[in-house]
Amino acid sequence: MGGVTVRVPAKVNLQLAVGPLRDDGYHDLVNVFHAVSLFDEVTAAEPDRAGAADRPVRVRVEGEWAADVPASDDNLAVRAAAALAARAGRSYRADLLIRKTIPVAGGMAGGSADAAAALVACNELWGLGLPLPDLMEIGADIGSDVPFALLGGTAVGTGRGERLTALETSGVFHWVFALADGGLSTPRVYGECDRLRAEAGAAVPWPRVSEPLLAALREGDAPALGRTLSNDLQPAALALRPSLAATLRVGRDAGALGAIVSGSGPTCAFLAESAEHAGALAAGLKDAEGCRGAVTAFGPVPGAAPAG
Ligand code: C5P
Repeated sequence: MGGVTVRVPAKVNLQLAVGPLRDDGYHDLVNVFHAVSLFDEVTAAEPDRAGAADRPVRVRVEGEWAADVPASDDNLAVRAAAALAARAGRSYRADLLIRKTIPVAGGMAGGSADAAAALVACNELWGLGLPLPDLMEIGADIGSDVPFALLGGTAVGTGRGERLTALETSGVFHWVFALADGGLSTPRVYGECDRLRAEAGAAVPWPRVSEPLLAALREGDAPALGRTLSNDLQPAALALRPSLAATLRVGRDAGALGAIVSGSGPTCAFLAESAEHAGALAAGLKDAEGCRGAVTAFGPVPGAAPAG
Protein backbone atom coordinates (compact mmCIF):
# COMPACT_ATOMS: atom_id res chain seq x y z
CA MET A 1 0.00 0.00 0.00
CA GLY A 2 1.57 3.34 -1.05
CA GLY A 3 -0.04 6.54 0.18
CA VAL A 4 0.73 8.68 3.21
CA THR A 5 1.69 7.15 6.56
CA VAL A 6 1.27 9.14 9.77
CA ARG A 7 2.58 8.21 13.22
CA VAL A 8 0.56 9.36 16.22
CA PRO A 9 1.26 9.10 19.96
CA ALA A 10 -0.81 7.89 22.91
CA LYS A 11 -1.44 10.24 25.83
CA VAL A 12 -1.40 10.00 29.58
CA ASN A 13 -3.22 12.53 31.76
CA LEU A 14 -0.94 14.12 34.34
CA GLN A 15 -3.91 15.89 35.92
CA LEU A 16 -7.53 15.11 35.13
CA ALA A 17 -9.78 17.42 37.15
CA VAL A 18 -13.43 16.71 36.37
CA GLY A 19 -15.94 19.49 36.98
CA PRO A 20 -19.73 19.27 37.20
CA LEU A 21 -21.80 17.47 34.56
CA ARG A 22 -22.91 19.90 31.84
CA ASP A 23 -26.29 20.03 30.08
CA ASP A 24 -24.73 18.50 26.94
CA GLY A 25 -23.65 15.36 28.84
CA TYR A 26 -19.98 16.34 28.99
CA HIS A 27 -17.97 17.56 31.96
CA ASP A 28 -15.87 20.71 32.10
CA LEU A 29 -12.30 19.58 32.62
CA VAL A 30 -8.83 20.67 33.43
CA ASN A 31 -6.93 18.03 31.53
CA VAL A 32 -3.12 18.09 31.48
CA PHE A 33 -2.22 15.90 28.50
CA HIS A 34 1.24 14.44 27.92
CA ALA A 35 2.07 12.64 24.66
CA VAL A 36 4.19 9.49 25.09
CA SER A 37 6.24 7.33 22.73
CA LEU A 38 3.66 4.63 22.18
CA PHE A 39 2.51 5.06 18.60
CA ASP A 40 -0.19 3.95 16.18
CA GLU A 41 0.39 4.33 12.45
CA VAL A 42 -2.31 5.22 9.94
CA THR A 43 -1.74 4.96 6.18
CA ALA A 44 -4.17 6.66 3.78
CA ALA A 45 -4.06 5.59 0.12
CA GLU A 46 -6.14 6.04 -3.01
CA PRO A 47 -8.42 2.99 -3.34
CA ASP A 48 -7.00 0.56 -5.90
CA ARG A 49 -10.39 -0.86 -6.88
CA ALA A 50 -13.36 0.90 -8.43
CA GLY A 51 -16.02 -0.92 -6.40
CA ALA A 52 -15.89 1.26 -3.30
CA ALA A 53 -18.24 4.04 -4.40
CA ASP A 54 -20.76 3.09 -1.68
CA ARG A 55 -18.10 3.47 1.02
CA PRO A 56 -15.78 6.34 0.13
CA VAL A 57 -13.54 5.70 3.17
CA ARG A 58 -12.71 2.12 4.12
CA VAL A 59 -10.53 0.89 6.94
CA ARG A 60 -8.45 -2.16 7.82
CA VAL A 61 -6.87 -2.67 11.25
CA GLU A 62 -3.71 -4.65 12.04
CA GLY A 63 -1.82 -5.37 15.25
CA GLU A 64 -2.27 -6.87 18.68
CA TRP A 65 -5.50 -4.98 19.42
CA ALA A 66 -7.04 -5.20 15.92
CA ALA A 67 -9.89 -7.51 16.93
CA ASP A 68 -11.20 -4.87 19.38
CA VAL A 69 -11.45 -2.05 16.82
CA PRO A 70 -14.52 -1.60 14.59
CA ALA A 71 -13.62 -1.73 10.88
CA SER A 72 -16.90 0.03 10.03
CA ASP A 73 -18.03 3.62 9.51
CA ASP A 74 -18.08 3.92 13.34
CA ASN A 75 -14.28 3.81 13.35
CA LEU A 76 -13.10 7.24 14.52
CA ALA A 77 -10.47 7.39 11.75
CA VAL A 78 -13.18 6.83 9.11
CA ARG A 79 -15.40 9.47 10.74
CA ALA A 80 -12.49 11.92 10.80
CA ALA A 81 -11.65 11.35 7.11
CA ALA A 82 -15.34 11.74 6.18
CA ALA A 83 -15.56 14.99 8.19
CA LEU A 84 -12.44 16.32 6.45
CA ALA A 85 -13.92 15.50 3.02
CA ALA A 86 -17.18 17.22 4.01
CA ARG A 87 -15.24 20.33 5.12
CA ALA A 88 -13.42 20.36 1.77
CA GLY A 89 -16.83 20.16 0.06
CA ARG A 90 -15.93 17.34 -2.32
CA SER A 91 -16.27 13.59 -2.41
CA TYR A 92 -12.87 12.12 -1.72
CA ARG A 93 -12.00 8.46 -1.35
CA ALA A 94 -9.39 6.72 0.76
CA ASP A 95 -8.40 3.30 2.02
CA LEU A 96 -7.08 3.54 5.58
CA LEU A 97 -4.79 1.02 7.25
CA ILE A 98 -4.39 1.35 11.03
CA ARG A 99 -1.47 -0.43 12.73
CA LYS A 100 -2.45 -0.47 16.40
CA THR A 101 -0.02 -0.43 19.27
CA ILE A 102 -1.99 1.86 21.61
CA PRO A 103 -4.35 -0.18 23.81
CA VAL A 104 -8.02 -0.05 22.77
CA ALA A 105 -10.44 1.47 25.33
CA GLY A 106 -7.39 1.78 27.56
CA GLY A 107 -7.55 5.43 28.70
CA MET A 108 -4.71 6.44 26.37
CA ALA A 109 -6.85 8.08 23.64
CA GLY A 110 -6.02 5.44 21.03
CA GLY A 111 -9.21 6.02 19.03
CA SER A 112 -8.70 9.79 19.09
CA ALA A 113 -5.08 9.23 18.02
CA ASP A 114 -6.22 7.28 14.96
CA ALA A 115 -8.71 10.02 14.09
CA ALA A 116 -5.94 12.64 14.35
CA ALA A 117 -3.61 10.56 12.17
CA ALA A 118 -6.35 10.07 9.56
CA LEU A 119 -6.89 13.85 9.41
CA VAL A 120 -3.17 14.50 8.81
CA ALA A 121 -2.83 11.62 6.30
CA CYS A 122 -5.94 12.53 4.26
CA ASN A 123 -5.12 16.25 4.35
CA GLU A 124 -1.84 15.30 2.63
CA LEU A 125 -3.24 12.55 0.35
CA TRP A 126 -5.99 14.83 -0.98
CA GLY A 127 -3.67 17.85 -1.24
CA LEU A 128 -6.00 20.01 0.89
CA GLY A 129 -3.28 21.92 2.75
CA LEU A 130 -5.51 22.73 5.74
CA PRO A 131 -3.50 24.24 8.63
CA LEU A 132 -3.26 22.60 12.07
CA PRO A 133 -5.93 24.84 13.75
CA ASP A 134 -8.48 23.77 11.09
CA LEU A 135 -7.65 20.09 11.61
CA MET A 136 -7.97 20.60 15.38
CA GLU A 137 -11.40 22.17 14.94
CA ILE A 138 -12.62 19.28 12.75
CA GLY A 139 -11.07 16.80 15.20
CA ALA A 140 -12.83 18.30 18.23
CA ASP A 141 -16.19 17.22 16.76
CA ILE A 142 -14.94 13.64 16.44
CA GLY A 143 -13.66 13.32 20.03
CA SER A 144 -12.54 15.53 22.91
CA ASP A 145 -8.95 14.18 22.79
CA VAL A 146 -8.39 14.47 19.01
CA PRO A 147 -7.04 18.06 19.06
CA PHE A 148 -4.35 17.04 21.57
CA ALA A 149 -3.30 14.02 19.47
CA LEU A 150 -2.68 16.53 16.65
CA LEU A 151 -0.76 18.97 18.87
CA GLY A 152 1.31 16.55 20.99
CA GLY A 153 3.89 17.60 23.60
CA THR A 154 2.37 18.56 26.96
CA ALA A 155 -0.70 20.79 27.07
CA VAL A 156 -3.57 21.78 29.29
CA GLY A 157 -7.05 21.27 27.88
CA THR A 158 -10.15 23.06 29.18
CA GLY A 159 -13.80 22.87 28.17
CA ARG A 160 -14.36 19.25 27.14
CA GLY A 161 -10.56 19.03 26.99
CA GLU A 162 -10.45 20.34 23.42
CA ARG A 163 -9.36 23.96 24.14
CA LEU A 164 -5.59 23.58 24.39
CA THR A 165 -2.66 25.63 25.65
CA ALA A 166 0.83 24.16 25.19
CA LEU A 167 2.86 23.88 28.41
CA GLU A 168 6.54 24.51 28.97
CA THR A 169 8.48 21.42 30.10
CA SER A 170 12.14 20.51 30.62
CA GLY A 171 13.82 17.22 29.88
CA VAL A 172 12.31 13.80 29.34
CA PHE A 173 10.01 11.82 31.63
CA HIS A 174 10.18 8.02 31.66
CA TRP A 175 7.02 5.96 32.01
CA VAL A 176 5.76 2.42 32.36
CA PHE A 177 2.24 1.48 31.28
CA ALA A 178 0.61 -1.60 32.74
CA LEU A 179 -1.82 -2.89 30.11
CA ALA A 180 -5.02 -4.55 31.27
CA ASP A 181 -7.07 -7.32 29.74
CA GLY A 182 -10.26 -5.80 28.32
CA GLY A 183 -11.08 -2.08 28.14
CA LEU A 184 -13.26 0.30 30.14
CA SER A 185 -15.94 2.38 28.43
CA THR A 186 -15.21 6.09 28.87
CA PRO A 187 -18.91 7.14 29.22
CA ARG A 188 -19.37 4.38 31.81
CA VAL A 189 -16.41 5.64 33.88
CA TYR A 190 -17.68 9.24 33.77
CA GLY A 191 -21.14 7.93 34.75
CA GLU A 192 -19.67 6.03 37.71
CA CYS A 193 -17.78 9.20 38.73
CA ASP A 194 -21.10 11.11 38.75
CA ARG A 195 -22.76 8.31 40.70
CA LEU A 196 -20.02 8.20 43.36
CA ARG A 197 -20.18 11.98 43.70
CA ALA A 198 -23.96 11.97 44.07
CA GLU A 199 -23.63 9.28 46.73
CA ALA A 200 -21.03 11.34 48.61
CA GLY A 201 -23.31 14.39 48.38
CA ALA A 202 -20.48 16.97 48.34
CA ALA A 203 -20.45 19.93 45.92
CA VAL A 204 -18.24 19.38 42.85
CA PRO A 205 -15.60 22.12 42.72
CA TRP A 206 -14.75 23.96 39.50
CA PRO A 207 -11.65 22.29 38.01
CA ARG A 208 -8.36 24.19 38.39
CA VAL A 209 -4.90 23.44 37.09
CA SER A 210 -2.37 22.35 39.74
CA GLU A 211 0.38 24.98 40.09
CA PRO A 212 2.83 22.50 41.71
CA LEU A 213 2.32 20.22 38.69
CA LEU A 214 3.09 23.05 36.25
CA ALA A 215 6.24 23.91 38.25
CA ALA A 216 7.39 20.25 38.23
CA LEU A 217 6.95 20.14 34.43
CA ARG A 218 8.80 23.45 33.91
CA GLU A 219 11.69 22.29 36.08
CA GLY A 220 11.78 18.73 34.69
CA ASP A 221 11.49 17.53 38.30
CA ALA A 222 10.30 13.90 38.05
CA PRO A 223 9.94 13.22 41.82
CA ALA A 224 7.80 16.39 42.18
CA LEU A 225 5.76 15.42 39.11
CA GLY A 226 5.22 11.96 40.60
CA ARG A 227 3.83 13.54 43.79
CA THR A 228 1.44 15.85 41.91
CA LEU A 229 -0.15 13.38 39.42
CA SER A 230 -3.92 13.29 39.95
CA ASN A 231 -6.97 11.82 38.27
CA ASP A 232 -10.56 12.48 39.39
CA LEU A 233 -11.72 9.46 37.33
CA GLN A 234 -9.51 7.09 39.30
CA PRO A 235 -12.02 6.24 42.07
CA ALA A 236 -14.61 5.41 39.38
CA ALA A 237 -12.17 3.26 37.38
CA LEU A 238 -11.19 1.42 40.60
CA ALA A 239 -14.84 0.88 41.52
CA LEU A 240 -15.50 -0.69 38.10
CA ARG A 241 -12.21 -2.65 38.02
CA PRO A 242 -11.10 -3.33 41.63
CA SER A 243 -7.99 -5.28 40.48
CA LEU A 244 -6.39 -1.98 39.37
CA ALA A 245 -5.72 -1.11 43.03
CA ALA A 246 -3.35 -4.11 43.22
CA THR A 247 -1.62 -3.07 39.97
CA LEU A 248 -1.02 0.45 41.32
CA ARG A 249 0.30 -1.01 44.59
CA VAL A 250 2.80 -3.27 42.79
CA GLY A 251 4.27 -0.27 40.95
CA ARG A 252 4.37 1.93 44.06
CA ASP A 253 6.02 -0.83 46.11
CA ALA A 254 8.61 -1.24 43.35
CA GLY A 255 9.59 2.43 43.74
CA ALA A 256 7.58 4.27 41.06
CA LEU A 257 7.71 8.07 41.60
CA GLY A 258 3.99 8.20 40.87
CA ALA A 259 1.27 5.67 40.05
CA ILE A 260 -2.04 6.60 38.47
CA VAL A 261 -4.87 5.25 36.33
CA SER A 262 -4.45 6.73 32.83
CA GLY A 263 -7.55 8.76 31.91
CA SER A 264 -10.63 6.56 32.21
CA GLY A 265 -8.42 3.44 32.49
CA PRO A 266 -7.85 0.58 32.75
CA THR A 267 -4.22 1.24 31.70
CA CYS A 268 -2.12 2.27 34.73
CA ALA A 269 0.78 4.72 34.35
CA PHE A 270 3.94 4.72 36.49
CA LEU A 271 6.55 7.48 36.48
CA ALA A 272 10.15 6.25 36.67
CA GLU A 273 13.44 7.97 37.60
CA SER A 274 15.21 6.97 34.36
CA ALA A 275 14.91 4.69 31.33
CA GLU A 276 16.73 1.98 33.29
CA HIS A 277 14.36 2.34 36.25
CA ALA A 278 11.40 2.14 33.84
CA GLY A 279 12.76 -1.15 32.47
CA ALA A 280 13.04 -2.59 35.99
CA LEU A 281 9.52 -1.42 36.93
CA ALA A 282 8.09 -2.94 33.73
CA ALA A 283 9.74 -6.29 34.50
CA GLY A 284 8.10 -6.29 37.95
CA LEU A 285 4.68 -5.24 36.63
CA LYS A 286 4.23 -7.49 33.65
CA ASP A 287 3.27 -10.51 35.76
CA ALA A 288 1.09 -8.57 38.24
CA GLU A 289 -2.48 -9.79 38.73
CA GLY A 290 -4.81 -8.60 35.96
CA CYS A 291 -1.92 -7.29 33.80
CA ARG A 292 -1.72 -8.19 30.13
CA GLY A 293 1.79 -6.79 29.93
CA ALA A 294 3.86 -3.69 30.65
CA VAL A 295 5.55 -1.33 28.20
CA THR A 296 8.02 1.52 28.68
CA ALA A 297 7.74 4.89 26.95
CA PHE A 298 8.96 8.46 27.32
CA GLY A 299 7.41 11.88 26.92
CA PRO A 300 6.79 14.46 25.74
CA VAL A 301 6.77 13.57 22.02
CA PRO A 302 5.27 15.50 19.07
CA GLY A 303 1.71 14.98 17.82
CA ALA A 304 0.50 13.23 14.64
CA ALA A 305 3.03 13.67 11.81
CA PRO A 306 4.08 11.92 8.61
CA ALA A 307 6.32 8.93 9.44
CA GLY A 308 9.91 8.61 8.27
O1 C5P B 1 -15.44 13.31 23.37
P1 C5P B 1 -15.44 11.82 23.45
O2 C5P B 1 -16.35 11.18 22.43
O3 C5P B 1 -14.07 11.22 23.44
O4 C5P B 1 -16.04 11.47 24.87
C1 C5P B 1 -16.44 10.17 25.20
C2 C5P B 1 -17.38 10.23 26.39
O5 C5P B 1 -16.65 10.64 27.55
C3 C5P B 1 -18.51 11.23 26.27
O6 C5P B 1 -19.61 10.67 25.61
C4 C5P B 1 -18.82 11.54 27.73
O7 C5P B 1 -19.60 10.49 28.29
C5 C5P B 1 -17.46 11.48 28.37
N1 C5P B 1 -16.81 12.79 28.50
C6 C5P B 1 -17.29 13.68 29.44
N2 C5P B 1 -16.71 14.91 29.57
C7 C5P B 1 -15.65 15.25 28.80
C8 C5P B 1 -15.13 14.34 27.84
C9 C5P B 1 -15.75 13.11 27.72
O8 C5P B 1 -18.25 13.39 30.17
N3 C5P B 1 -15.09 16.45 28.96
